[in-house]
Amino acid sequence: MTKVLVTGACGQLGTELTSRLRSIYGVDNVIASDISDPNQEIAEGPFEHINVLDKDAMADTIRKHGITEVYHLAALLSAKAEQNILPAWKLNVDSLLNILELAKEKNLDKIFWPSSIAVFGPDAPSKNTPQNTALNPTTVYGISKMAGEQWCAYYHRNFGVDVRSLRYPGLIGYKSLPGGGTTDYAVDIHYKAIAGEPFSCFLDKGSYLPMMYMDDAIKATIQLMQAEESKIEIRTSYNLSAISFAPEEIAAEIQNHLPDFEIAYEPDYRQKIADSWPDSIDDTPAREQWGWNHDYDLKSMVTDILANLPRQLAKNP
Ligand code: SER
Repeated sequence: MTKVLVTGACGQLGTELTSRLRSIYGVDNVIASDISDPNQEIAEGPFEHINVLDKDAMADTIRKHGITEVYHLAALLSAKAEQNILPAWKLNVDSLLNILELAKEKNLDKIFWPSSIAVFGPDAPSKNTPQNTALNPTTVYGISKMAGEQWCAYYHRNFGVDVRSLRYPGLIGYKSLPGGGTTDYAVDIHYKAIAGEPFSCFLDKGSYLPMMYMDDAIKATIQLMQAEESKIEIRTSYNLSAISFAPEEIAAEIQNHLPDFEIAYEPDYRQKIADSWPDSIDDTPAREQWGWNHDYDLKSMVTDILANLPRQLAKNP
């Protein structure tokens, strides 16, 4: 029987992944955990307040609930990490090592850990960045993800830990707000548009970045975790791709629905982070090895968000 623990369950990805996992495995079989308080939806199922840096508390929770799989999502994202160098390194890397050690000691069935397009730096080709290329990240977040990928491969190679990972592009959803990412402008822009306010974008025109609608990200995560073990040939982390666009392109798409919407460009320190990342990603191994395929393009994503966000805001103002 599968018993899942999700860390960082109150975050942007955690909120949606937890509810999807609960619909697959049953509410009582998915334990959400976070250092923050849960929202109403997360609190409808089992929840534990845990600091992922506290290995003993993690071990207790795993024992108490008979956990077999962990989705370890707790992390500091790119922009926040630049402003909190040592705490970001500690949270992003030490907590992963805690989970990998616990997986080894307690023989856990599977671990999921998110990596990111941030592992790439200026030495990687920026268009259609391949799976295997120069990894010379220039951000704290990117360095932590690159190191984490190597730790995942190490624990798989030496101890047989079945840890699986995806290099997520910027994830765009409307059900919960992100915090501290460089790609997050593409979430905030919808909130301003719905409120009828102009949007000040912290990235400049022409800043192409790889992006993905949250529904696709959840689909990819479940697909990877349910794939037969023999299909998972990459044990660092898989490139994963869906859409690539620049701020003016998503603004134009929003204007197709809301013609009065206005955007202004006021790039800040996050521009440098965006400039160091790829424009688009080649994810051929994910498509060939375990059948990944995305559903949403820019148009269908924006249409879906603008149709659903007002209802979501009415539910959780
Ligand atoms: N979306 C993340 C960020 O911007 C990248 O993984 O930090």
